[in-house]
Amino acid sequence: MKGKPAVIIADTGEVVGPRSRIFRSDCSRSLTDVVSNLRRMATAFQLVLLPDLSRPGESSQTPIEKGDGGVRWLADVLEAAGISVRLPEKDSRTVDPGRWSMEEYSRRLQETSETLGLDLNASFFVCGQVGTLAAIPDFGGFVICIRGERGEGPRGQLSPNAVAVSDLHEVADWVLGEEELRRRLGDADRAVREAAHCLRVGGVVAFPTETVYGLGANALDERAVARIFEIKQRPRFDPLIVHVADAQVAREFVDSLPEVAVRLMDRFWPGPLTLVLPKRPCVPDLVTAGWPTVALRSPRHPLAWRLLREVDFPIAAPSANRFGAVSPTTAEAVREQLGHQIGILLDGGPCPVGLESTVVAVENDGRLTLLRPGGLPVEEVEVLVGPVARTRGHDDRPRAPGGLPRHYAPRTPLQLFKTSPPPNPRAGVLAFQTPPPPDAFGAVEVLSSRGDLREAAARLFEALRRLDARGLDILYAEIVPEIGLGQAINDRLRRASEPEGGGV
Ligand code: TXA
Ligand code: MG
Repeated sequence: MKGKPAVIIADTGEVVGPRSRIFRSDCSRSLTDVVSNLRRMATAFQLVLLPDLSRPGESSQTPIEKGDGGVRWLADVLEAAGISVRLPEKDSRTVDPGRWSMEEYSRRLQETSETLGLDLNASFFVCGQVGTLAAIPDFGGFVICIRGERGEGPRGQLSPNAVAVSDLHEVADWVLGEEELRRRLGDADRAVREAAHCLRVGGVVAFPTETVYGLGANALDERAVARIFEIKQRPRFDPLIVHVADAQVAREFVDSLPEVAVRLMDRFWPGPLTLVLPKRPCVPDLVTAGWPTVALRSPRHPLAWRLLREVDFPIAAPSANRFGAVSPTTAEAVREQLGHQIGILLDGGPCPVGLESTVVAVENDGRLTLLRPGGLPVEEVEVLVGPVARTRGHDDRPRAPGGLPRHYAPRTPLQLFKTSPPPNPRAGVLAFQTPPPPDAFGAVEVLSSRGDLREAAARLFEALRRLDARGLDILYAEIVPEIGLGQAINDRLRRASEPEGGGV
């Protein structure tokens, strides 16, 4: 009999402890985050907590790190929150976990899976950046490695069945993304192979990324790329983002790679950050609209990630919408706009980030300019590499046509509001946290009743699409706090509210 698929949190102390700061005085919000992300995963997987491998004293503020006791503490917190979690049997051998060899650790993992009846091949193994990776070779499932607090990557080379992410929220996005693929595509590997074949013979494939759905073609095949422009009715002056499997592949397409770009790739790839760099001649001019630069990004969605490993070329992909319209964050939204024109549309469920990638230009001397705010808050980039210049408003030549005044627009006219919109039964309201009085409007959407910008971003485009479909006279959208992802949300709302004729 097949066992249960599990999310096995190895090094529990390291993964949910210091990373999430749940033991510091300002802990309540972070503990809430930890619990809510574990809860998300527990809906589809058996959660298993393994004790920490770190040497005593390495992370001494965390009770979890002291072997089984701390893991039990977290398990109690989870049980109290109604989340089912399993622990390995308490080890009667008096082994200090800090002294376990990798073989010992690996053996413990096997034993645990047998006692708990797990299907390791269908499971995820979540670890910190320390040496746990060495335990992986005999693990048949998928490994997710959380980078260190300052973004340090895993020590040593990642195995082909492993990915590095930044926090537990991204772990949950990945795990649930895979679950969606299993549910919607059945045999996801086969769907990926078919899509790869279609791309190899010059076809166009719509596929999910963590930001929005993309419309992809072989970036090195000009005829295939030309199809993208046709399908999207996109002007040829608007360059495309080239998607790559990782930083190593990216190097093949850039003329020079300033040190700061390497640091950004190490820290934020795979993820919603696009870097614009001097291009090599092998990148077709059609892709870059004649610019001497190429926009590169390595997506974090499990499907896009696998697709890029299945083919041996980069994939050029704009968002899978008609030019100027709202980007699709579900397969349904792609079908609605472009369905009849696309050979293959891979349904991977809703995109977890929900906003297009943040686009940053890197000059040869290492200077950085923000061309489009997006799914990675630019503040996070600045924490790592210092100030990023902003492009000056609309009068600047649009270096990123996502920077055109009117873009991301629904058909229904849209106006912004700060405090309260004028009551009107023929109006729809897109509220951030608090809904307006009921009955005063034709339709209301709330982005995040918790006031969580990540959740609001993930819901923005679908909410706009639903409101747009109501056939109302006008939509009112509330400006959200201008911090973190709020900047990108407000940017999209402002562009969506530009009157027709204000852009393209
Ligand atoms: O999240 C995303 O970035 C999604 C997914 C599919 O990866 N893609 C996306 O592509 O939003 P698109 O084409 O809708 O937007 C790409 C943006 C445009 O604003 C484009 O002008 C800019 O990137 N861009 C591309 N190449 C550029 C270059 N060489 N220089 C400056 N801007 C560039
Ligand atoms: Mg777009």
